[in-house]
Amino acid sequence: MTSRNITIILFIALVTGTLIYARSVNINLPGNNQGFAPQQPIAFSHRLHGGDLQIDCLYCHTSADKSRHAGTPPASICMNCHRFVTAPWDQIKMEEQKALEEKRDMQIPISPELSKLYAAVGFDTEKMQYDEGSPGKPIEWVRVHSLPAFAYFDHRRHVNAGVICQQCHGPVQTMETVSQVSELSMGWCVNCHRDVNDGVLADLRRRHASTNCAACHY
Ligand code: HEC
Ligand code: HEC
Ligand code: HEC
Ligand code: HEC
Ligand code: HEC
Repeated sequence: MTSRNITIILFIALVTGTLIYARSVNINLPGNNQGFAPQQPIAFSHRLHGGDLQIDCLYCHTSADKSRHAGTPPASICMNCHRFVTAPWDQIKMEEQKALEEKRDMQIPISPELSKLYAAVGFDTEKMQYDEGSPGKPIEWVRVHSLPAFAYFDHRRHVNAGVICQQCHGPVQTMETVSQVSELSMGWCVNCHRDVNDGVLADLRRRHASTNCAACHY
């Protein structure tokens, strides 16, 4: 028997043991959180940014085609726009109009949700510049999708093969709050790999997706 086979058998024994334990004490396995849609620290809307404004997914999730993780954008990416856009456009326009009529300086409206972003990056909205004394602190986005550590998934392979984000994540560009649409179970992964190999998925014809245990577990 090769050492690779032994590794796989040990792996199966370990996982099965862990599972029997996990099920008996009723731990929720992280792969099966379908429908999970946690509240985020800032009410960031994919419907607005990805849908209405049509910002490309990769503009924010910059590593989805380059590495294992798609990545969550750093606040500096948000500031590319929000250095200037401090509130919804109609509020800014309305204040501009009023200031003109009342012959006074404009008071730039600041959205309460965006003020959380400004606190996080240390941006002073009175001076409209970064406050050098304030280091800011990272935004603690709550993770929505996560596989158990014993399963291996890589974005790059899928994105570069032409599997679109929505095939796995659903219509994110319509979501006010992101929710987990797919099961993220082993059956979900393997069924798509089989469909790929059977040529059922037109866009992915002539691709091959492994169904070997060791492709996703090692
Ligand atoms: C302007 C930046 C931006 C754009 C554009 C954007 N996202 Fe996001 N995305 C975020 C941020 C910030 C989060 C973390 C907060 C949240 O979950 O809403 C996130 C979270 C996610 C998550 C959940 C990650 C997890 O924790 O499991 C998925 C899936 C996702 N985005 C997919 C997409 C897809 C698909 C598109 C294109 C339709 C897209 N995003 C466009 C900024 C963006
Ligand atoms: C390419 C430009 C762009 C980027 C990048 C961007 N936004 Fe926005 N965002 C906008 C625009 C434009 C609006 C206002 C749309 C409107 O008129 O309602 C907006 C609105 C918002 C609002 C709603 C404000 C309110 O009170 O209604 C929040 C919150 C927000 N953005 C957070 C973020 C965060 C967090 C990021 C980074 C992950 C981000 N945005 C990245 C352009 C951008
Ligand atoms: C083949 C299915 C699939 C495709 C296609 C896919 N994802 Fe994912 N995505 C997943 C899985 C599975 C996870 C959980 C990964 C984990 O826990 O290691 C995930 C996690 C994420 C996360 C959480 C952070 C991270 O990097 O793990 C973000 C953000 C995300 N995906 C965005 C995207 C975007 C944007 C696209 C398109 C460019 C995309 N995904 C395409 C399956 C997919
Ligand atoms: C919507 C279809 C789809 C889903 C769902 C999917 N995959 Fe894939 N996967 C593919 C395709 C297509 C490829 C082949 C990419 C290529 O040709 O390089 C692939 C390739 C892979 C590879 C590279 C192995 C190889 O063939 O050399 C791994 C590892 C992988 N997937 C893991 C996963 C895991 C883990 C999940 C579930 C969390 C998953 N995939 C879900 C379509 C999918
Ligand atoms: C395409 C990827 C992929 C392949 C191929 C794959 N698995 Fe999995 N497997 C997963 C994922 C993802 C999970 C986690 C699912 C969850 O948390 O519910 C998993 C979970 C498991 C579990 C935990 C039980 C369960 O169903 O949740 C065992 C045991 C397991 N795999 C064994 C195997 C064996 C043995 C093979 C080969 C016959 C194999 N896997 C092939 C992706 C894969």
